[in-house]
Amino acid sequence: MSLSLLGRSLLTLLDYSPEEIRYLLDISKKVKKESKDGMVFRRFEGKTLALLFEKRSTRTRCAFETAFGEEGGHPVFLSTADIQLGAKESLEDTARVFGRMFSAIQFRGFKQETAETLAKYSQIPVYNGLTDLYHPTQALADFLTLEENFGAVKGKTLCYIGDGRNNVARSLMIICAKMGTNFTVITPGELNPENELLHKCRTLAQVSGAVIRVTPDVIDVKGADALYTDVWVSMGEENKKEERIRLLSPYQVNQKLMDMTEKSSCIFLHCLPAVKGEEVTADVIDGPQSRAWDEAENRKHTIKALMLATLTEI
Ligand code: CP
Ligand code: NVA
Repeated sequence: MSLSLLGRSLLTLLDYSPEEIRYLLDISKKVKKESKDGMVFRRFEGKTLALLFEKRSTRTRCAFETAFGEEGGHPVFLSTADIQLGAKESLEDTARVFGRMFSAIQFRGFKQETAETLAKYSQIPVYNGLTDLYHPTQALADFLTLEENFGAVKGKTLCYIGDGRNNVARSLMIICAKMGTNFTVITPGELNPENELLHKCRTLAQVSGAVIRVTPDVIDVKGADALYTDVWVSMGEENKKEERIRLLSPYQVNQKLMDMTEKSSCIFLHCLPAVKGEEVTADVIDGPQSRAWDEAENRKHTIKALMLATLTEI
């Protein structure tokens, strides 16, 4: 039987097999090529998408809204200033109503449980557009970008440097463990990834052949094929700013650090938004090794692929 993701949610990549991730990446490549060739389709005609945001967004919102709308779908943006979300109406009831009106829901917010509850009570696909714990659609775009640069990424090494316990680091660790890409997290001990997830990923890595390392030493960037960083202060953690600057200042990605990889082919990735001068210097993110802008564009292609795979008979 051929693979189908029809009707599936994407709450975390832990729920997706390597074959399913491969399938999404292959569709992403196809839709990107269609877009570059100027092909226009109406594959979401007659469908509706709720875009529910508790936190701010540029790329994720724009990717979902344009990918869905340009193919005839009707996206509806809803912030917590617009609707009751667990305040005057229970989350379960909101989810039930969404299930009657929409084809799918994108949720960006704080708790992973909110995304899970929306999926349970709406009975329609829910896409996690970032929670405190995971950012799975970002990891898909990151892998598309890696594959565009390196072809097969099994056995390549992605090095993430910065806040090792945040949503982006966690999702990258999962996708690397599943897809056989070595993953090195360089972070001060205080910001190490949570043990339970690390253990799960190391178990997955035994099957894929990936090596998952956690280290405080920046020297361990040596040999990396890609260096990745993210903001030091994620949304919702603004009160930790001073502490993060103190902990993470030695972990800034600058040209000296890029050169410490001893690989001129090493690329730089960042999910964006970036705070230039904190986690990365302007010369690196705006320089020749950066692929951050391709990566941002790839959010749209991977998100379109996810919605095609889960909402249509492709
Ligand atoms: N990378 C990302 O999720 O960007 P936004 O916060 O702008 O959506
Ligand atoms: N870790 C960041 C990612 C932003 C896309 C945050 O959660 O704010």
